[in-house]
Amino acid sequence: MEDVTLHIKDRQGTIHKVEAPTDMAMNLMEVCKAYGLPVEGACGGMAMCASCQCYVLSDTDLPDINDDEEAMLSEAFYVKENSRLGCQIPITEDLNGLTVELAPEY
Ligand code: FES
Repeated sequence: MEDVTLHIKDRQGTIHKVEAPTDMAMNLMEVCKAYGLPVEGACGGMAMCASCQCYVLSDTDLPDINDDEEAMLSEAFYVKENSRLGCQIPITEDLNGLTVELAPEY
């Protein structure tokens, strides 16, 4: 499989169905940006800005939260139980069917 299908809910509540390649070393933040979704990605994917925060709505198996992501989420606003940083989620086949919602902008 080369592409996975993701569902990304924007801040207006519209769900965008996007196809993401698994063979281009992309992460979820980059995919959102590639599709023109309003994700800033200010730190370039270093887990240092939280502008790529999203809420995971599906029970998809995701990679564990690493120390950098945990540290950033402990300081970020609007953090919920299901918060993740999109830039810390690589696009793999396991993500097929993933549904996330963009966290509020700040
Ligand atoms: Fe900055 Fe993800 S892009 S934390």
